[in-house]
Amino acid sequence: MKAIEIRNKYLEFFKKHGHAVIPSAPLIPENDPSVLFTTAGMQPLVPYFLGEKHPEGTRLADFQKCVRTNDIDEVGDNRHLTYFEMLGNWSLGDYFKEESISMSFEFLTKELGIPVEKLFVTCFKGDKDCPRDEVAAQAWKKSGILEDHIYYYGKDDNWWIAGEEGPCGPDTEMFYDTGKSACGPNCQPSCDCGKYVEIWNNVFMEYFKDKNGYTKLKQKNVDTGLGLERMTMLLQKKETPFDTELFAPIMKRLEELQKVDSIESRRIVAEHLRSSIMIISDGGKPSNLDRGYVLRRLIRRMIRHLNKLQINLEELSTLINLNVEILKEMYPELEKNKELIKTVMLEEKDKFVKTLANGEKEFKKAIDRLGNTKLIPGEIVFKLYDTYGFPPEVTKELAEENDYEINQKEFKELFKKHQEKSRAGSEAKFKGGLAEQTKETIAYHTATHLLNAALKQVIGKDAHQRGSNITVDRMRFDFNCDHKLTEEEKKQVEDLVNKWIQEELPVTKQEMKKEEAIKSGAECMFIEKYPEIVTVYSIGNISKELCGGPHVTNTKELGKFKIKKEESSSSGVRRIKAILIKE
Ligand code: SER
Repeated sequence: MKAIEIRNKYLEFFKKHGHAVIPSAPLIPENDPSVLFTTAGMQPLVPYFLGEKHPEGTRLADFQKCVRTNDIDEVGDNRHLTYFEMLGNWSLGDYFKEESISMSFEFLTKELGIPVEKLFVTCFKGDKDCPRDEVAAQAWKKSGILEDHIYYYGKDDNWWIAGEEGPCGPDTEMFYDTGKSACGPNCQPSCDCGKYVEIWNNVFMEYFKDKNGYTKLKQKNVDTGLGLERMTMLLQKKETPFDTELFAPIMKRLEELQKVDSIESRRIVAEHLRSSIMIISDGGKPSNLDRGYVLRRLIRRMIRHLNKLQINLEELSTLINLNVEILKEMYPELEKNKELIKTVMLEEKDKFVKTLANGEKEFKKAIDRLGNTKLIPGEIVFKLYDTYGFPPEVTKELAEENDYEINQKEFKELFKKHQEKSRAGSEAKFKGGLAEQTKETIAYHTATHLLNAALKQVIGKDAHQRGSNITVDRMRFDFNCDHKLTEEEKKQVEDLVNKWIQEELPVTKQEMKKEEAIKSGAECMFIEKYPEIVTVYSIGNISKELCGGPHVTNTKELGKFKIKKEESSSSGVRRIKAILIKE
């Protein structure tokens, strides 16, 4: 079965079981600077686990584009990927353990045809925070999972939370027995030897964790995630995802082009190429900070491995074409964004190529000077980063190729200091720049707060911001709403915003504890993603929002607010495009 067939089967199956199929959120979360990329299907849904009503109901399913980069330097082995697709189904206070487990079982055994003997499951073994999950284990038994295929583990294996705080709970994981021989008498699902491969994770999300511990959520949710590449590989009885149709044509092309053979380098190129394509297509740009830096690392590491394979870098453009061909059925947006992807990727390649050879020379010189030690000081790693644009994993690989190690700790400290400095620098530049040339974007930013407040008055207080995008010429604002706004509603919204502008309301800024801010009724998109101390911007007494700013100091600076367009953005989400006209 091809990956896209598995995806379609999955969505059809959950549709049949009453789920609304929602679109994948972008890889780069809109308006949420606190996370780099979307890393799981649940991420865009957090407000709904906490009790907010989802316009599509209480049963949802989707495929979600995800990027996880914690293991970037593991890519090249037979399983790690930075980009992957997660199939997910959710219950928002609807079904819980039994139904979730029986649907998973039915999907795996009936729809995908996996023999029950190949399935192993794990459940939470219980601790002071939460009891042993006998309910899940019973449900598995009732479905037909063999009794000795059920294992219990603690929080390390069978508990799921995104990060440190937020909605969470015990999970039950499903494993596929590849049939490889056991690595020893203790070989079991938690073992890393490759015999058992995790295929699906159902999280029974009924707790909320903050620094004081666990409390129960208002509602019991289910959050599940099934890794598509892995499932495809298993169903096709392939050894690695690189042998499936998602990567095989690229792997083959690389093999034809290479002058030096290395399967590891081919995998790195194939994986990083795909990941970079997906990130750029969703709006990513290489830079030295945060998201941009992840993308830069992916592209630069890929370039170095193309060099290792001695593949002419001029081939990059045709490799992008081929990769888009492979992926466009699954992600039709790639076709449309192909030229952009090429421009961004080739520009980054040109930048890196200029310094790559010199950096490698510098590296050789530096290790020659080291004498007997096999540990490369952080300072050298940092210099290679700072002067030659070498991401640390590239230097690490160079080191390993020469039997050296790098002092990660020292490098990380230097890097952190450097990032703090450049972040402060770019913020200062931003402020300075805004004062002169982009008064417009600041004004639009304040206008989004007014619009947010006006929508609450006109549509209802459940109308919340879902995203926004500002340029010097216009603003775009997404919010949840189950209907197209009427002419009357649009006019009311426009009139309210203009009334507040005319009232010359002061815009004030206050720092406070997150808890206090929420208690005081401040609006925010994703509460758990803010730090403990937050900035709250108030406009007169009509708007109060958690926000990083900057804003104008008085609404009189905005000019006249005009809605240009109101349209659907995605299911249950409307989009307003508006402008400010200087009087
Ligand atoms: N959030 C869980 C995971 O990422 C299930 O989707 O594994």
